[in-house]
Amino acid sequence: MTKTGIDRRQFLKQAAAGASIALAYPSSHVVGANDRVRLGIIGAGARGQELMGEFLRVPNIEFVAVADVFSRRHDEAKKLAPDMKSFDDHRRLLDLKDVDAVIVATPLHCHSRHFLDTIAAGKDLYSEKTMTWSIEEAEACRDAAKRSDRVITIGLQHQSSGALADAKAWIKQGYAGKITHVESWMSRNTPRGKPQWVRPVPSDCTSANVKWDSFLNGRPKRAFDGFKFINWRLYWEFSGGNVTENMVHQIAWIMRALDLPLPSAAYMSGGVFSEKDGREVPDTIAVTLDFANDLVVTWQSTFSNSHYGLGERILGSHGTIERLAGATDMVTGKSQSGLRYYPEKANRPEGAALEGQTRDQSHMANFIECVRSRKEPNAPVEIGYRSAIAAHLANLSYRQKRRVTLESAAQATRG
Ligand SMILES: NC(=O)c1ccc[n+]([C@@H]2O[C@H](COP(=O)([O-])OP(=O)(O)OC[C@H]3O[C@@H](n4cnc5c(N)ncnc54)[C@H](O)[C@@H]3O)[C@@H](O)[C@H]2O)c1
Repeated sequence: MTKTGIDRRQFLKQAAAGASIALAYPSSHVVGANDRVRLGIIGAGARGQELMGEFLRVPNIEFVAVADVFSRRHDEAKKLAPDMKSFDDHRRLLDLKDVDAVIVATPLHCHSRHFLDTIAAGKDLYSEKTMTWSIEEAEACRDAAKRSDRVITIGLQHQSSGALADAKAWIKQGYAGKITHVESWMSRNTPRGKPQWVRPVPSDCTSANVKWDSFLNGRPKRAFDGFKFINWRLYWEFSGGNVTENMVHQIAWIMRALDLPLPSAAYMSGGVFSEKDGREVPDTIAVTLDFANDLVVTWQSTFSNSHYGLGERILGSHGTIERLAGATDMVTGKSQSGLRYYPEKANRPEGAALEGQTRDQSHMANFIECVRSRKEPNAPVEIGYRSAIAAHLANLSYRQKRRVTLESAAQATRG
């Protein structure tokens, strides 16, 4: 048994069984170019309801069903799409013949189960990031996806950003030159005494209204705990902390811009320095990821200062590509966002500064379009997989207090 109570061999057996079912399942319905796409959602909490709102803006879609272990979420989802059927067991939703595609927005530790079950049921899949909670789940999901003909996308919406298209084009044209370092950061702040991420527990969040054992999803059984159910992000057995909540978006963006393989090693330091409220996952983080091709990527994050917002700087011998979101300009004090390129005069004396021009696409519209066309979506499983592995290597390093290589992590997983 692992620390979280999941038997690895049992998991892999289940994953393999899921994968072979995926092979055996013919897709029940082929969506034509002009057909209405019928959606189901598993996990209609904060993000799930946000996603429903986004999908409802995409023409010619319909929400058919919701599955959630908390009865309150059925009512909330039906406010957005009143004709939905509701279930407390996701398998009943997956049994429905009139669901073409499924959105998964459950807590991280449930993602791989819902991923595997959804494609095994012959449905297309939009799964929230991070793709999985662990390295071995990431391997199992990627393997199952390879054997399946389902259209699958991961909720890494920065993959649909115009900034990614522009940064890739600039790099391809050699504007950045040799890139040896990418620095990235994500910073937030809240009034003291109002810790980041902590949500109030609704009064109807009781053992009568929540299928607690389904939420636990293989973790050791225990009495109902409404605080943990609502605030699962704060605990390792359900979450990967800010690395899987936020770094994953940025590392996926960097990996795609530079077309990076898996990192060869990860180091992570930090701790619970800002929010001493019993949470396990660190709120102050410094990650270093090594890549085999002479490149180091760093990511730093804090919950006690928001001055620099969120951003990435791709540092090359011929220029810098900088993407900012909500950083405070030192001189004007105004909020700065967008993609920019600055030439390095040493190697591109005639180079001009540039601003990103390409507009963002809707990540959700891209998925629906791909359900109809059967093309690969903007955030395919491969980038979900690579970004998940990068995130898990970083967290392993933090938890094991050592440098973790891809090889040592694989050995530990095999071991
Ligand atoms: N892409 C983004 O920008 C973005 C933003 C926020 C959250 N997210 C991701 O969305 C996911 C959900 O986050 P959230 O903030 O909405 O969490 P949440 O707790 O608000 O919602 C999760 C929902 O899943 C339900 N649930 C739990 N276990 C279940 C199970 N076994 N079967 C069915 N339903 C189950 C819960 O009742 C809840 O309604 C996370 O993976 C998070 O990382 C992504």
